[in-house]
Amino acid sequence: MDKKETGEYVTMHDSRSGKEFRFALLDGSVGPSVIDIRKLYAETGYFTYDPGFTSTASCDSRLTYIDGDEGVLLHGGYSIEDLAEKANYLEVCHLLLHGELPTQAQYDTFSHNITTHTMLHDQMQYFFRGFRRDAHPMAIMVGAVGALSAFYHDVTDISDENQRMIASHRLIAKMPTLAAMAYKYSVGQPFIYPDNSLSYAANFLKMTFGTPTQEFSVPDSVVRVMDQIFILHADHEQNASTSTVRLAGSSMANPFACISAGISSLWGPAHGGANEAVLDMLHQIGTKDRVPEFIKRAKDKDDPFRLMGFGHRVYKNYDPRAGVLKASVRQVLDELGVADEPLLDLALELERIALEDEYFVQRKLFPNVDFYSGIILKAMGFPTSMFTVLFALSRTVGWISQWKEMHEDPQKRIGRPRQLFLGEDRRDFVDIAQR
Ligand code: CMC
Repeated sequence: MDKKETGEYVTMHDSRSGKEFRFALLDGSVGPSVIDIRKLYAETGYFTYDPGFTSTASCDSRLTYIDGDEGVLLHGGYSIEDLAEKANYLEVCHLLLHGELPTQAQYDTFSHNITTHTMLHDQMQYFFRGFRRDAHPMAIMVGAVGALSAFYHDVTDISDENQRMIASHRLIAKMPTLAAMAYKYSVGQPFIYPDNSLSYAANFLKMTFGTPTQEFSVPDSVVRVMDQIFILHADHEQNASTSTVRLAGSSMANPFACISAGISSLWGPAHGGANEAVLDMLHQIGTKDRVPEFIKRAKDKDDPFRLMGFGHRVYKNYDPRAGVLKASVRQVLDELGVADEPLLDLALELERIALEDEYFVQRKLFPNVDFYSGIILKAMGFPTSMFTVLFALSRTVGWISQWKEMHEDPQKRIGRPRQLFLGEDRRDFVDIAQR
């Protein structure tokens, strides 16, 4: 549906000028209404001030809806719990890119399109060799995905709907190949070419953990876990990295460069880097008896320590993605043959104590998606440095779907926030000898 003029207004009384201004209230399909302030500056001469965009809807979108108070996440109207249990990742990719879950025929075509784009230009191998052996795989991803724009620049006319779709397919298809190469490079093993006979998740696992010296096989249950992790990270509306992709794309930049910008934004520990930080934190805490000490540190405003994997800008309730992971973590560890995982016991104890603590209760700080994902990824054999790479791989479909949606929006304009200026006003230049 389109945004609806409700016929209702918010009135602003300006005590400086004594004037009154009216701003229309717009409704979406569900969720809070917005005050349409697009003409605010033209009519009043004022900007709004909202660092961190805590009260700003930067665009309209049809892809993902979050009710943070209730802990609800929907893609195209389908709950994340249903999608994680009943769909596979490529179905979710189709849902985000095309707005609907695919029919069997649509699925077959979509899956074929993705599968036939999995290979990278062979010259990309030489690009990898420029990185230090011990480079963080996220650093490699930022560079390598950005470098794809050099391979596809001339054939990517973003004003052409068909070419936008081909770029989207290329990105979704090539991301596992790049992510696996980043891993292989860091452990000094040869790159493994994609195997188009395998599913998206199985192919990624083979490229990551397979070697040319022996037959690779992985249990279906492990492939399913990988696929579920991809689904849980597929999109999350206008978070920092997605907003970065939209902002970069609003200047009409090449999509591969825009996704590289998104990967950079995701890397930080306040965003996608938190999954790596959670495991570092659990190792640092070490044993259950030290949990209270770290809870105390997390509450101390003079201590920079925060409980990683806790808290969220939008969720003031349990992150439903963390709920899915928590519900399955023990079973997944059993399937992976991990009988005893002390980090899981530690995480459960940390969550229990935090959720009883007044500080966390009052601020509505709950576990987020990153709290349990690292424990599963570790059990699957991924080093912590790969955790955020897996997030980037999964989120690529969200980023590119949002990028595509932005380009389809007839109201699209270059993103250009303003500022409240606190620096010096104009002053006379002082010669260096007189300063
Ligand atoms: N540990 C301790 N205190 C916290 C935490 C935490 N993890 N998160 C928030 N708070 C406190 C914060 O100090 C503030 O307290 P006060 O009101 O007394 O100043 C209050 O809770 C509100 O926090 P905020 O920093 O204003 O909230 P925000 O919306 O700006 O930040 C966040 C959200 C996710 C960056 C933050 O909760 C955080 O740093 N969490 C840890 C990192 C993390 O797990 N990130 C992953 C987010 S989910 C996956 C993703 O999006 O990539």
